[in-house]
Amino acid sequence: MQEKLLEIANEAERAIERADTVEAVEELRIRYLGKKGVLTQLLRGMGALPAAERPLVGKLANEVKVRLESLLADRASTLKKHAKARKLAAERIDVTLPGLRPFLGSLHPLTVVRTEIEEIFLGLGFQIVEGPEVELDYYNFEALNFPKDHPARDMQDTFFVSDEVLLRTHTSPVQVRTFEKTAPAVPVKIIAPGKVYREDDDATHSPMFHQVEGFAVDTHITLADLKGVLNSFVREMYGEKTRMRFRPSFFPFTEPSAEVDISCVICGGRGCRVCAHTGWLEILGAGMIHPRVLEVSGYDSEKVSGFAFGMGIERIAMLKYGVDNIRLFFDNDIRFLAQF
Ligand code: DAH
Repeated sequence: MQEKLLEIANEAERAIERADTVEAVEELRIRYLGKKGVLTQLLRGMGALPAAERPLVGKLANEVKVRLESLLADRASTLKKHAKARKLAAERIDVTLPGLRPFLGSLHPLTVVRTEIEEIFLGLGFQIVEGPEVELDYYNFEALNFPKDHPARDMQDTFFVSDEVLLRTHTSPVQVRTFEKTAPAVPVKIIAPGKVYREDDDATHSPMFHQVEGFAVDTHITLADLKGVLNSFVREMYGEKTRMRFRPSFFPFTEPSAEVDISCVICGGRGCRVCAHTGWLEILGAGMIHPRVLEVSGYDSEKVSGFAFGMGIERIAMLKYGVDNIRLFFDNDIRFLAQF
């Protein structure tokens, strides 16, 4: 019986060593030490032993039982530790991995174009000035030589706050506001970007849009200076090959006045849908500042002269990016904005 006991003990020890899961260890415990376990069965047979042998065998059996219990517990705890270590290794956070970058926005296309225009004119020696969007009739119309009942006012119908206060229809009033401060000093070379408002609303016109006004006053300023400045601008903005032409036009605050066209940026002047098969695109209005505008603002029109021009930023951006509906600039759809 002693031999049988030792045999069982050996066999159990080897099995415990080989057990590779906590469940397998539990199965072994039941197989050897459970109610119907091998060791338990053997001990039941002790009654058949001669009385003299019983204490010795009983002691040995108890030792085997204690030893197996302790081996089973050790093995189970080792396996639990391994399982935990494996789980941790799988979940380990690599602190050297680069972090998730937050989504960065981009500049609005109109900001991109406005900045580009500003940079070009800063390079030509102009300064940037801003004026109020809520403007007096005096600066928006009167001082710019639009008398109260002049039909030219109809083309710039706008939102009136009161009889004398309105949302400015163009950036030209910045000319007058500037001259009031600078006269009679020269030279003056300014660009004035900003929002303007009109009662207009279709695919290429919005009730709110942006313009850049430009003007220069000095002794001996001529139309040639205007052409030179605009030519530099057009070439930098649209490329060296771009041609420019002046068409006679009318504005109350310039004399003479012109509409300025550039050769079509899409077809190069051959004619296409964008330029309505003319080869030309109108990009701005310009002219020599009317003597009356200089005079009301404090300049002596016998001593100084000036040129002025005004362009729409949306129009320039639409041509540059091939955008065919002005609404897209103001809908703030991220799918549109993310393209710039
Ligand atoms: N203010 C004019 C407009 O909004 C644009 C313009 C034309 C501005 C001729 C000028 C200019 O300075 O000389 O329609």
